[in-house]
Amino acid sequence: MSIKKVMVIGAGQMGSGIAQVCAQAGFDVTLNDMKQEFFERGIGAISKNLSRDVEKGRRTEEEKRAILDRITMSLDLQDASNVDIVIEAAVENMEVKQSIFKRLDEIAPAHAILATNTSSLPITEIAAVTKRPAQVIGMHFMNPVPVMKLVEIIRGLATEDEVYESVEAMTRKLDKTPVEVNDFPGFVANRILLPMINEAIYTLYEGVATKEAIDDVMKLGMNHPMGPLTLADFIGLDTCLYIMETLHEGLGDSKYRPCPLLRKYVAAGWLGKKSGRGFYVYE
Ligand code: CAA
Ligand code: NAD
Repeated sequence: MSIKKVMVIGAGQMGSGIAQVCAQAGFDVTLNDMKQEFFERGIGAISKNLSRDVEKGRRTEEEKRAILDRITMSLDLQDASNVDIVIEAAVENMEVKQSIFKRLDEIAPAHAILATNTSSLPITEIAAVTKRPAQVIGMHFMNPVPVMKLVEIIRGLATEDEVYESVEAMTRKLDKTPVEVNDFPGFVANRILLPMINEAIYTLYEGVATKEAIDDVMKLGMNHPMGPLTLADFIGLDTCLYIMETLHEGLGDSKYRPCPLLRKYVAAGWLGKKSGRGFYVYE
């Protein structure tokens, strides 16, 4: 199937990045969020990234303008009525995702693929609320989307080969590398990454070391580009907690229990970089 028109749901850090790379690759993009101010924040981030490319001589001002012109604002899911694929990047919550997919199934054309950028939730369970489970798939981008090469592509139980192949081809067109994985909680990326981050939070909680020391150990000792607590702030502590809860419930093993300190921070509204405070404070 030929994909030309893309709708991205959620103009947060992931949705805006996905919209940017789709528009850069020449797709027409409809970027949906619940409020105009959320869309504007997303398009502001895209514009800033593109301006940096212009400053560094990697693209011209005209190219930047053309990319921005390919992105249209949407505040209504009804705008999915003429797209070829929807990539959902709203909050990591099964109820929210299922309600979006149920509506999209009614609105999107029969041929359209419904993809989710979920970090950890079962694709099969999201697909089950639609009448087109064969056309539902996971398309898991990494943060920051414009920089990271990986897209995990996750087949639900019913995902058709043709749909997988279209999504794989689109991923390559975005200049990303697809990796196929099966539908288990956390897939591969977050099955491995999040328990490491959760353990770093336990290490802080139990007073083994300061946050700076924990991050330094992993940066200088393991060559990680960011320490795990900085990375948790970067991902969003709410998202980290949702992922740990999915691993804990979905795999039923106590080794995945979320650290109480993570729960406390999220309850306080300390969500990391996006809220201005997490393990660190941001200007
Ligand atoms: N958006 C767009 N571009 C960005 C960016 C952003 N948010 N942040 C950094 N960049 C670009 C910079 O512009 C710079 O590009 P150029 O050199 O080409 O100009 C490049 O990335 C490097 O940036 P910096 O020199 O400022 O900083 P850095 O070398 O420390 O790299 C980083 C920044 C790429 C984010 C790096 O720190 C890194 O790789 N961190 C780890 C990221 C990671 O682990 N991501 C996965 C998170 S888990 C996930 O995504 C899955 C999930 O479901 C939770
Ligand atoms: P975010 O909080 O930055 O953005 C979420 C956006 O979705 C917000 O702008 C919010 O207003 C919007 N939204 C919420 N409900 C909506 C609805 N019903 N309709 C339209 N828009 C809605 O979150 P994020 O970090 O961009 O994460 C989004 C998704 O991507 C989550 O499923 C997350 O697990 C996944 N993900 C996150 C990361 C990461 O590092 N943060 C990496 C990969 C995947």
